[in-house]
Amino acid sequence: MCITGASGVRYGLKILEELSKNNFVYLLISDNGYVVLDREEGISRKDIKNLINENVKLINVKDISSTLASGSRLIETKGVIVAPCSMNTLANIANGVSQNLIHRICDVALKEKVPLYLLIREMPFSLIHIENMKKVALAGAIVSSASPAFYHNPKTVEDMVNFVAGKVLDFFKVKHNLYKRWKENED
Ligand SMILES: Cc1cc2nc3c(=O)[nH]c(=O)nc-3n(C[C@H](O)[C@H](O)[C@H](O)COP(=O)(O)O)c2cc1C
Repeated sequence: MCITGASGVRYGLKILEELSKNNFVYLLISDNGYVVLDREEGISRKDIKNLINENVKLINVKDISSTLASGSRLIETKGVIVAPCSMNTLANIANGVSQNLIHRICDVALKEKVPLYLLIREMPFSLIHIENMKKVALAGAIVSSASPAFYHNPKTVEDMVNFVAGKVLDFFKVKHNLYKRWKENED
């Protein structure tokens, strides 16, 4: 589970909270991810440990010698989520450039066919962003914008965040009750 410096770090935090209830999770946060965590959530680098339970291992994004940088270890995981995924991280992945461990893990995920989910956030998109999305999608990544729906009648920001986080978890078949499914309780 990777958090980068796009707006919407709370999507990543919600996914982490749900995932770590019943799964072991490696957590990576880019340097700019920490900047946005502080700006949007008031969570400083030293406070991050308060969000982590015994199922979460925080990995230094500069530790390029981490076992996760190796295909033989990454294939043992169920997949990689980058949420939120900045256009910078998207560009690095799309072009096979590994400037930190998040980029390297995504690069390895693509070559090893480990499921890779990028929850990108930017508005509007330039043609370069769109080309990069196309490149990573053709290489096998799931590319999704953080797009809350309204058909489940969200009342709060948390409802909207939960919907997006729930859709990401659906892809990995992780059970959750984050949002009411279409026509749930009407069948
Ligand atoms: C408060 C804040 C919000 C940002 N929101 C976005 C965003 O929504 N999407 C994006 O691509 N970049 C956003 N950025 C810019 C990225 O943080 C910047 O491009 C950075 O280089 C990303 O680095 P990373 O990919 O290593 O995390 C934001 C920066 C700040 C400080």
